[in-house]
Amino acid sequence: MRSSFALALVTVLARAVHASTVITPAGGERLAANTHLVPEGGSILHVDDSTVHVLDADDNVVKQVAVDQTTPVRPAESEASKTQSGVEPFKTGWITFASWRNTGSSPITSFTTSWNVPPVPDAEDGQTVFLFNSIEPNSGHAILQPVLQYGGSAAGGGKYWAVASWYLVGNQTFHTKPVKVSAGDKLDGIITLTSSSGSSFNYVTSFTNIASTSLKATNAMELTWSTETLEAYHIKSIKDYPAGSTVFSNINLKLANGNVPNVAWNHKNDTADGLSTKINTDGAKDAKITIKY
Ligand SMILES: *[C@@H]1O[C@H](CO)[C@@H](O)[C@H](O)[C@H]1NC(C)=O
Ligand SMILES: *[C@@H]1O[C@H](CO)[C@@H](O)[C@H](O)[C@H]1NC(C)=O
Repeated sequence: MRSSFALALVTVLARAVHASTVITPAGGERLAANTHLVPEGGSILHVDDSTVHVLDADDNVVKQVAVDQTTPVRPAESEASKTQSGVEPFKTGWITFASWRNTGSSPITSFTTSWNVPPVPDAEDGQTVFLFNSIEPNSGHAILQPVLQYGGSAAGGGKYWAVASWYLVGNQTFHTKPVKVSAGDKLDGIITLTSSSGSSFNYVTSFTNIASTSLKATNAMELTWSTETLEAYHIKSIKDYPAGSTVFSNINLKLANGNVPNVAWNHKNDTADGLSTKINTDGAKDAKITIKY
């Protein structure tokens, strides 16, 4: 009697602990209490170093959020530890990606990427897969990203593909409501600098061809580190990924001074699991990058 009660209590507690964290793109597992839905057409306004406001489309304040901006949005990479049977588990977090940092004095004003929604994965293991272009400040303490996801995340989702825009800053996470998409749909993810003044930058991201995915970050830091990324969690088999490859195309970066930056993409492969990034067409004008599963 007593032991079954204890077991039930442990189960309840385990559920409570489990329920308190959610998966976020870039940030991985984060506290559910620190993730916030932004109303359609809304924005995240940086008020000061430790406060952001969530505004609706009419600029009414709907939420005031205390933020610790010294927290990096991407957790440090953890070494995969062997399981009891001696098998290396699949990598978690940023699996394979391409990146370029703008070190020039003229800020990035526009970053576009197009890709097609891949087929649904052959296996279902409760995995979460994210595909996105993104941009971060030099500090790594924020990220703005139009994200395609398969599986569950802080924004919702399930055994289907969906898109949402995300802004993570310090220990807080903001996202739009996910919109279901289907295999083969063409996505156009765009990040735009709408205006700036001194060290204050106003950005908006969206999928240009999908309504209700627009998310603004205003009075934010300058965003410099641009990426094309595959990120994943709870992968138990290579079949938890979609089959084939994803081609990021129409990759265009523009600067405030009107120039096209001189871009050479870096990349990182997950050789152990057989996932890779290939730079097909380098540069900042109609570049093409393929992620192979
Ligand atoms: C995030 O930062 C804010 C401001 O410091 C703090 O109030 C909040 O408790 C933090 N949350 C976590 C989980 O660190
Ligand atoms: C990553 O994998 C791609 C595709 O196989 C290959 O072209 C590229 O050279 C690899 N890069 C590195 C750094 O190993």
